[in-house]
Amino acid sequence: MELRRIGAGDAVAGFASGDDDLDRYLKRFAWFNQCRRFSVTYVAVDEGVIAGYLTVAAAQVERDDLPESLTADKPAYPLPALRVARLAVDRRYRGRGLGRELMRAAFVRASELSELAGCVGVLVDAVPHATGFYEKLGFLTLATLEGRSPVRPRPVPMFLTLAVADATSSAERD
Ligand SMILES: CC(C)(COP(=O)(O)OP(=O)(O)OC[C@H]1O[C@@H](n2cnc3c(N)ncnc32)[C@H](O)[C@@H]1OP(=O)(O)O)[C@@H](O)C(=O)NCCC(=O)NCCS
Repeated sequence: MELRRIGAGDAVAGFASGDDDLDRYLKRFAWFNQCRRFSVTYVAVDEGVIAGYLTVAAAQVERDDLPESLTADKPAYPLPALRVARLAVDRRYRGRGLGRELMRAAFVRASELSELAGCVGVLVDAVPHATGFYEKLGFLTLATLEGRSPVRPRPVPMFLTLAVADATSSAERD
């Protein structure tokens, strides 16, 4: 399976993760947002079929929002991070390790960003039913954000420090 940035001609129409918002994002906004430099979407392509995708964007994290175990070496100003803004695997490809592979690709980008412009870790606003998936990768839960729309499930902010992202992506290379 090939992993690459989304392109104008990619066959997004048939993608079906079971989450309408995530499907709509891929079909309507992923390419547009990438063209405008708001985010970058990586697609996992299996013989022309999009099996899964990952959208990442530059972000910031405040020391005081991190778990206490990670604050000792951090200054009080906002620190650079990479946000996993969207992640979805088509239903036909679930449970084969593709979600984990896409997250490993995010960890590699976080490592690259740390060399280019600084990056202390990876952020995600997880849907409640997916927190276990992120915990398996080493993510820790952050304090809950306030003020989200009541019509959507409240996301669970989670964070993975760059040291763990680096260790995971280099274990993959070995
Ligand atoms: C969450 C999602 C990306 C996982 O993708 P996937 O390719 O099926 O997951 P993987 O096969 O890579 O699973 C990796 C591990 O996480 C576990 N896992 C997968 N989904 C999980 C979940 N929802 N909760 C807890 N654990 C989960 C798997 O059992 C596997 O564990 P193992 O290493 O012990 O075998 C996929 O289910 C999906 O697209 N869901 C709908 C959209 C969504 O919820 N996206 C996340 C938005 S924050």
